[in-house]
Parts: sequence; C-alpha cells; structure tokens
Amino acid sequence: MLALTTKTRDRVFAIAPFLNTCIRRLLPICRCIAAGAVLMAVVAGARPAHAEDGYDLWLRYRPLSGESAQAYRASTTRLIAPATSPTQIAARHELLHALTGLLGNAPPTADAVDGDGALVVGTAASSPLIARLKLDTAKIGREGYLIRSVVIDGHAATVIAANDDIGTLYGAFHFLRLLQTNQPLQHLDLRESPRLKLRLLDHWDDLDGHIERGYAGASIWDWHKLPDWLDPRYTDYARANASIGINGSVLNNVRANALSLTPLYLEKAAALAGVFRAYGIRVYLSARFSAPIEIGGLKTADPLDPQVRRWWRGKADEIYKAIPDFGGFLVKANSEGQPGPKDYDRTHAEGANMLADALAPHGGIVIWRAFVYANEKPDDRAKQAYDEFVPLDGKFHDNVLVQIKNGAIDFQPREPFHPLFGAMPKTPQVLEFQITKEYLGFATHLAYLGPLYEETLAADTFARGKGSTVAKVVDGSLYGDKHSKDALTKSRLTGMAGVANIGTDRNWSGSQFDQANWYVFGRLAWNPSASSRAIAEDWVRMTFSNDAAFVTPVVDMMMRSREAVVDYMTPLGLHHLMAHDHHYGPAPWDASGKRADWTPVYYHRADRNGIGFDRSATGSNAVAQYMPPLAQEFGDVKRVPEQYLLWFHHVSWDHRMSSGRSLWDEMVYRYTRGVEQVKQMRATWHGLDGKIDADRYAQVAAFLAIQEKEAQWWRDASIAYFQSINGLPLPAGFAPPAHPLDYYEALSFPYAPGHG
Ligand code: GCU
Repeated sequence: MLALTTKTRDRVFAIAPFLNTCIRRLLPICRCIAAGAVLMAVVAGARPAHAEDGYDLWLRYRPLSGESAQAYRASTTRLIAPATSPTQIAARHELLHALTGLLGNAPPTADAVDGDGALVVGTAASSPLIARLKLDTAKIGREGYLIRSVVIDGHAATVIAANDDIGTLYGAFHFLRLLQTNQPLQHLDLRESPRLKLRLLDHWDDLDGHIERGYAGASIWDWHKLPDWLDPRYTDYARANASIGINGSVLNNVRANALSLTPLYLEKAAALAGVFRAYGIRVYLSARFSAPIEIGGLKTADPLDPQVRRWWRGKADEIYKAIPDFGGFLVKANSEGQPGPKDYDRTHAEGANMLADALAPHGGIVIWRAFVYANEKPDDRAKQAYDEFVPLDGKFHDNVLVQIKNGAIDFQPREPFHPLFGAMPKTPQVLEFQITKEYLGFATHLAYLGPLYEETLAADTFARGKGSTVAKVVDGSLYGDKHSKDALTKSRLTGMAGVANIGTDRNWSGSQFDQANWYVFGRLAWNPSASSRAIAEDWVRMTFSNDAAFVTPVVDMMMRSREAVVDYMTPLGLHHLMAHDHHYGPAPWDASGKRADWTPVYYHRADRNGIGFDRSATGSNAVAQYMPPLAQEFGDVKRVPEQYLLWFHHVSWDHRMSSGRSLWDEMVYRYTRGVEQVKQMRATWHGLDGKIDADRYAQVAAFLAIQEKEAQWWRDASIAYFQSINGLPLPAGFAPPAHPLDYYEALSFPYAPGHG
C-alpha cells in the first residue's frame, strides 16, 4: 500500500483509536485491497502514485521487497501496544502506519499473545505483558528503551520496553529503522539511552516568517494563523524529530524579538507545545535581554535591578501557566549588537543567573550563548569568548548551561574545536553546530556534515589528560555529576544544539541531501560516539533505497563531500572568506565591512610575502588557550596539522608542505581538487540514474550542477585574488581562472537568501 499523504495522515491520526477497531474488523478486506494496490503498482511500473518530493524524509515507509516483507511479517503478526496516553497513541499509530507502508498491511492489534510473532510495546505500568517479563530497565532512564526477542507463553515475540512512554516511542522508531534498513529481527537485544539530556534544534526563525541563514523557504511556524490553525506539518516535524531523539525546539531566532514573550505569542507557542508534547519535545524561546524595557515598560534591563528581576519572575510564571513543560530560555547577549548585561556593567553570569532564578521554581533552564566578540577590542576575535567566559566558571547557577559553537569563529567549513570546551569544568557546556549551511554552500551544495560533527566530537581537548574528547566534555562524563544539582534531572545538565535547516520547502531542508544533516545531528546528539558513516548509511537506506549498488557509492560520496567544500572554499585552515552580509560566494578581497572582524582580509592576512593568521606565540597567541600538548602542537609551524596551518600561522608563499609543494602550489592544487571532487560526485550520481525515483534524482542532479559551477567560482575567484597579491605563476598544468579578478569582484547578489 502506498504511503499516506500528509493531510490524510493527520486525519488518520486524529481518529486513530477508531481506526484501529475498523482495521481489525476490516482486515481481511484490507488485505485484498492492499494486494490489489500492490498489483496495480507493479502493473503501473512500480512508480509511486504521487511524486517523490522528499516531504516524507527518512520516514517514507515505502513497500519493502517481497522477500524482506515476508520475513518481517512473521515478526509482526500482531501488535500489542497500549493506546491510552497521547505518546502511546503516537507510538502505536507510527507502527501501524509504517508497517502498512512497508509490509502492505497493518498487523492486527491484540491484547494477548496467542501465536508467534507478536510485537509487544509498552512500559511495566502500561502493559501487563511487559510487567510480567521483569526486564532490567533500571539503567536506561526515562528516555531509553530495550528491543528484545523474547518468548512469551511459549511464543516467540519482540518487545519494545521502556520506563516511560517516550522511551517506547523512541524504541518504536528504532524498531522501524531495522526494517527500513533491512536488518534481521531475530535474536534482538538492543539497549539504548541518550547520552545527552538536551537534544535541541535552534530555529533562527523571525516572527515575520523570515529565517536568518535559512535556505529552505520561510519559517514553518505560521505565527499569524496560530494558535487556531495547527498545520499538519507540525505533527510531521515532531514525528521526524522524535524519530532521531530530538527533545527540544527553540522556536525563535537568537536575535530575538521581545514580542515572542507577549501573551499574543505565548498562546501561539503554547499551541505548538501542545502538538509536540506527545513526541517528547519541549518548547524553548529565545529571550531578548531588553524585553523588560521593550514590552515591560521599565526603564532598565539591569539584571541586578529588583524591578527587572520581578518582571522576569512574573514573565516566567506567565509562561509556565501557558506552557507547563516549557523548557527555558536561549539567550544571545552582548553579541553582534544584541542587548545584554554588559550594557549595565554586569557579567554574563549575572545576566544568566537573573533569568535562571526566574525559571528555577518551574524547573526551567537558561542556555546562555558564548558567541561573543567585540569589534572594539583590538584582540583576535577567536580569543574573546574564552577570555570572557573562563573567569566565570563556577559563577553560573545550576540551571544555566553555556552554549558554545564548535569552533571559535563561526561554523566555518573547518575550524579547530573551540578552546572553551573543557576549560570550564564547573559549567555544563552545550555544543552548538550549524545544520543549515550558511558557510557550506547554502541548500544547493551537497555537503554531508556528519564528518564535521564527528571531527569536533572526537577532538581531544586534553582537559583531563589524553582522551578528554569534546564528546566527553559535552556529555559530562569527564567531570561526573558532582558539580550540579540541576532542576530537570538532579544531575549535571548536558546538551547539544543544532541551528535548524528546516523551512516551508516541500522537502523541508531545501535539498534532499540536507535532510541528512538534520538526521545526523539528531543521531549524534543521542550518541556522540556514533559513526557518521553508519548514520549516513541508515539515512540513505531509509530515504532512498536499500540497493547496495546505490547505497555504497552514495555513502562514499557523502563522506567525501564536506572535504570537497573545504578544498574549494577554504583549504589549509583559511576561513571567513565569503561575501559580506549574505555570505553567498567568495570575496577574499573584501575589506569594506563596517567592522574589521567581519571582513575576509582580517582573517587571511595575505600580503606579498605570505598568508595566514598568526595565532602562535609570535602573534595573537590564541594557541595558549588550548591545553599544553595542543598549544605546543598548534603553535609550532612544523607540527601543526596542515588542515589548520593558516588558521594558526602566517607563512610564506614558498613554505614547504608535506607533499613537497610550495604553499601556493598546494593551495592551487587543493582548490582544483575540490572542483574535481564535485565533478566526480556528479559522475557518481549520473551513474545512479534509474535507481531511485526520477523526481528526486533530477533535483539532486541539478543541484550538483550548481555546486560544480559555484565550486569553480570559488576556486577561480580565490586564485585570481591571491595571485593578485603574491604575483606568483600557477603551477604547471593548472588552468587559470576563467575571468579576471575584477569580474569576480563586481558580482553582486542583493537578494541572496538567508541574510541576517
Ligand atoms: C553568525 C551568523 C549570524 C548569527 C550569528 C549567531 O554570525 O552569520 O546570522 O546571528 O552567527 O550565531 O548568533
């Protein structure tokens, strides 16, 4: 049977309990109809009735091959799952909906095991069968689950068991993933629980529907029609997030509008929270620090002012009345022109703690961003957050987390990990990644970010000796639980946040492959040690096909794709070379921004003799912010990994690289290699024509063509510019840029999407 359309699915969901009864009664008839539908699909050339447009994400649930479907039917002969709470209903609905799509018909629902192949779902409290099994769920927490092959009353069965309904929903999605990725269902013994407590999407969505750094259309939050119209898309958003374990959604832009905190908008946020609740997702809001002035009529937002403190307490009470499980505030303060405590000579800790005190009685938290740097300070931008925040370690209240971008500048194609990780042992640190590709080609460039995320998570901070990876800092295991008695779980708060790439485009993320970045973010937030390759493989199988002849080349292509972007945009540690403001395309020549630290020339520092930002002891000494073994490695031009060479050092154009080439020749080689990689990606994709639906195939092919054109643009413009500085010839065999430098300099894109 073909997958349901969104609207139909939503309606089905609303009447799910009634449908279950009908399904049981009508099952024999349904089976005939399903068989007929499958037959018709075969006759019609097995093309889906509606175009594949990517809307269903990795939850496509299209029919599996006959052989696997046959095997899976034997393990899902009946579904025994409670359906009294909204989360239980969501889990049961997802299983029925998915099994209908994957296997051709839904298993009957039942209450007892009277044959082999039952799928039993629930908690000890919700399911007498699960209670009887006395499974050891002590260590899996509230969100964890077990999936196990068991024998019940002499019959083989599979159980999805948890301590809480949300665990069963996560388990249901995992179980379905096994089918979707063609895994055996025998001898199952899976035990899963998330390593991080907060797994958040940060939406940079404005109230007018624009998304800062959004490349997938407008905001999916239809603020104007909320709370009365609940777009079915909200439910599908929640389903997709729950399927990868995301449990929090920050609805509005960090560059916050105080109106989000007014009754008008709180009612709308509450309506979204109402949709998300069943899926284990809490709503958070970005709070504008000056809100007491803008919407509260106060004269100040000074965090130590009693009136201001009272105002925030009242606001917190009001929010929790509307949204009892409200997660808390995300705050961008004293960053890029945003208001904050420094406006009143108070510290970031004083600002954060004031909000934390207001939320604490309700169990809420404050996530305070460390993305701060001031143009007025003559010091290296990369150093400023560390200098500002390290002295505050131990000064934040227990329900405050500090959110730190993966690198010290700004989500570049490659950055060394942020030196703040591991440098504030008493402060829970949230790792912030960008899922939207502000600096990696917007929506059209195929760049799978799994390897980028993995690179940061696996980086060794040496904070407590060798093996102190960023993942261990972020999951709290480096420090144990002793520093915090947090409001949510009585142990140290931990979290990871991703700046969402979701918009109103039919395919959600602006391109088919950008869905993989949403997917891998969620999976890594659940388990920061998971392999980005294995996750890519799951995603490809669920999203496109289980055909090995498709899966292997596509996963290989994805795994190489981010490195290709590094090569054609910013090789060897170069960074921040994009055009001003909208950040679309190259502009290494740009020195015109209103702040020096927003101009590419500030970062590459190229002159006739050499190129790179000297952050060693002879320069800004940013290397000293890393722990000793790394400080020495990064600070030594002979030992620094070449991928960070120009991040940490200013070297001459004839600097000898490990390849034997001069630096300049190596740069030209890498720029060119990046373009070549994209050509290969196109060739790989071309070879897969016919292996998936024509619609998604065609869109990917078209976007790869755009990527090749733009990769060439990046290469040529960069080479033309740097050559104008160093006056050096190109190495033999490398084509000159297609146009003179002034051609590239004159390009202008006033309406490029996603501007800030
Ligand atoms: C980048 C981005 C801005 C964003 C900022 C942030 O600078 O370009 O649009 O507001 O990051 O993370 O706050």
